[in-house]
Amino acid sequence: MSTTTGTDDAIGLPEFPADRDARCPLAPAPEYREWRETGGLRRVNWNGHAAWAVSRYEDVTAAMTDPRISAEVPMQQSSMAGAQMFPRMDDPEHARLRRMLTKDFTVKRVQAMRPRIEEMANEFIDTMVASGSPADLVEAYALPIPSLVISMLLGVPYDDHAYFQDITSVLMSRTATEEERQKARKSIFGYLFDLIGKKEREPDDALISRVAREHLQEGQLSRETLAMNSLILLNAGHETTANMIALGTLTLLENPAALARIRDTDDPKVVSAAVEELLRHLTIVHNLVTRVAKEDIELGGRLVRAGDLLVMNLAAANWDPDFVSDPDRLDIERDARGHVAFGHGVHQCLGQVLARAELEIALPVLLRQLPGLRLAVPPEEIRFRNDMSIYGVHALPVAW
Ligand code: HEM
Repeated sequence: MSTTTGTDDAIGLPEFPADRDARCPLAPAPEYREWRETGGLRRVNWNGHAAWAVSRYEDVTAAMTDPRISAEVPMQQSSMAGAQMFPRMDDPEHARLRRMLTKDFTVKRVQAMRPRIEEMANEFIDTMVASGSPADLVEAYALPIPSLVISMLLGVPYDDHAYFQDITSVLMSRTATEEERQKARKSIFGYLFDLIGKKEREPDDALISRVAREHLQEGQLSRETLAMNSLILLNAGHETTANMIALGTLTLLENPAALARIRDTDDPKVVSAAVEELLRHLTIVHNLVTRVAKEDIELGGRLVRAGDLLVMNLAAANWDPDFVSDPDRLDIERDARGHVAFGHGVHQCLGQVLARAELEIALPVLLRQLPGLRLAVPPEEIRFRNDMSIYGVHALPVAW
């Protein structure tokens, strides 16, 4: 075991997340292979803080279920007075707050939403086709679907989607200044406070109204925390699935056999296995999954000291040959279940059933409606989101 204490400064350490290679932008950053192969834990500079990047599948899953490792990372706590942020809290308080939201994300609830999601996907394609080829798939399709879904689920007016998208992109940017973030947070909290007040006066069946009725009025939840939960869901609902739809489409355009298999099958199991493999292969959450050691522990053969930061390198873990054989190959027939694209342990993604449903609908609908879909620009002109906490493409010009 190494005796590294983990108190060294961040300056001079490799930056995390590392940029993906422009020649191979769908694969994790090339240096992750070496990080994984040489001991698994690596000192990195995460947002100016020294941290351990955890890159092996076995170490990531162990760390995310280790009760001595906490999600209460000091520099990621809520800056909004009185607002608890459950993704950055430990059980039992994390579980108490999360439970208030789970009803709306169950398999049964999501199943009931599928026909409406399919209708939406078709409507957005009709609108895109009506405006003519070429189009930006991100703006015309990949973003509007999850945006409308999360708006409906929460009960926020979809007409305000351009505003949420702007706020979300500031909050998820790795280059925005603290001042810009503060401004965005203040603005969205003001908006959400007004909305919660409106829901109390005019209740509906959607999530914010339900949680206000069941928990706010019972005193189990503060108004600030309800606004925070709504913001977390709005952010997560906008950024993640949208990037998977766009990056997934690009990946399929580059893998015509996989594209044809998804387009031509009428077996939902084939589509769901393909979506699992795309989630594994692309692992778009390449930042943000951070933890802190509560006591000295041994992880991946290293001594991690109490107080040390850990950042989960999900992309590296999902490409670990000890998890799947031949990880570099996109193989939509393989069983990719067990991947960590949605995290692992008690913080595993609350929206995963919904995200899977959106992907299982959005990708085949797009490929079937537009069988001639192709890139409208040379691949080297596509701008990838190395600058954002969630990976993807800034725009995806397509023609059909
Ligand atoms: C947590 C990925 C879609 C809501 C997470 C985590 C990951 C993740 C990796 C774990 C974070 C951690 O352990 O620190 C993804 C991916 C998505 C997706 C790849 C789409 C493809 C969604 C959607 C929603 C959502 C659509 C909600 C509408 C959440 C919430 C948490 C979370 C609330 C925090 C859970 C907790 O701490 O208990 N997600 N997510 N996600 N996700 Fe997702």
